[in-house]
Amino acid sequence: MKKARIIGTGSYVPEKVLTNKDLEQFLDTTDEWILTRTGIRERHIVAEGEFTSDLAAHAARRAMEMAGTPAEAIDLVVVGTITGDFPWPATACLVQQKIGAVNAYAYDVSAACSGFVYALSAAVSAIESGRIKKALVIGAEVLSRIVDWTDRNTCVLFGDGAGAVVLEAGDGDAGVLSTHLHSDGSFWELLYQPGFGSRYPASEDGLKQRLPFLKMQGNEVFKVAVRSLAEVALEALQANGMGVNDVSLFIPHQANRRILEASAKRIGLGDDQVYINVDRFGNTSGASIPLALDEANRAGRIKPGDMVLLDAFGGGFTWASALIRW
Ligand code: ACO
Repeated sequence: MKKARIIGTGSYVPEKVLTNKDLEQFLDTTDEWILTRTGIRERHIVAEGEFTSDLAAHAARRAMEMAGTPAEAIDLVVVGTITGDFPWPATACLVQQKIGAVNAYAYDVSAACSGFVYALSAAVSAIESGRIKKALVIGAEVLSRIVDWTDRNTCVLFGDGAGAVVLEAGDGDAGVLSTHLHSDGSFWELLYQPGFGSRYPASEDGLKQRLPFLKMQGNEVFKVAVRSLAEVALEALQANGMGVNDVSLFIPHQANRRILEASAKRIGLGDDQVYINVDRFGNTSGASIPLALDEANRAGRIKPGDMVLLDAFGGGFTWASALIRW
């Protein structure tokens, strides 16, 4: 069976930076509160006229450039996102058009902050089955357009961005060794966007109730996130007959620093094994893992043969891991 190898990574964040100090100007919050509770210092925010598909296309081009893969060679474009340009069509179709991946089929995956790992898993299966040879897997989000900028409990946490990888069918040891995916729909109400869908269709009244904005019960999310991130990471290692010392780099979903540190500790990982960039980007949901992966890759933190463990948790609830031999 062929393995799905990552042959290129790319990422993109919008130019505009919104610092905690900037938030102090219009919210009842402080830099100190945000930093100690979340580890976040700043986040990037899209400009007017800039959309999720734009961020995704930028990240995709960078990944294809590193891979040396022309757009026509891509068989599949899959985007993990919960903030697509439109409810439909899929943002993946818009990206396909923007980058000229004319021979690909394209669709989105909705798994919130686990979206990228879910999308990666689907692409890996398509490659391993022999159905396709090359895939572009993207996580892209514009959270700034679905957070309520009057709600200090949520809006300080999130940012915009995108990350992408090019996967190729290959022989040999390198590639995605396993993916593990889980969901528990009984937690859906702890983290969701109420409107506007079939349950709460568009209405003036719904707008007054602020239904189109993200809702979250942070404390509850925190507890389940730490437990699930640890369990699914250990599941990946066990399935591959490995231990924590085999992990060269652990790249968790960048939700906030306290979640990352608590789950890494529970898994038994040392600080030097954990990649953290939430301080500069905030929580970019489905974009956070590929954004961190690209940053680490370009900084030379990942070498051939290294074992990279991706670990995600998000609304649904959904959680997932991927173990990759680089
Ligand atoms: N600035 C100042 N004060 C604030 C702010 C703010 N931005 N936000 C909340 N507060 C206040 C609250 O109103 C509350 O005040 P009160 O005691 O007078 O009522 C106080 O701070 C404490 O609030 P808590 O919610 O108990 O604060 P906590 O320490 O739990 O931290 C946080 C909140 C950071 C959201 C935490 O629960 C958390 O990290 N949860 C995880 C949520 C998360 O990361 N979600 C992302 C999506 S899911 C994912 O990506 C995994």
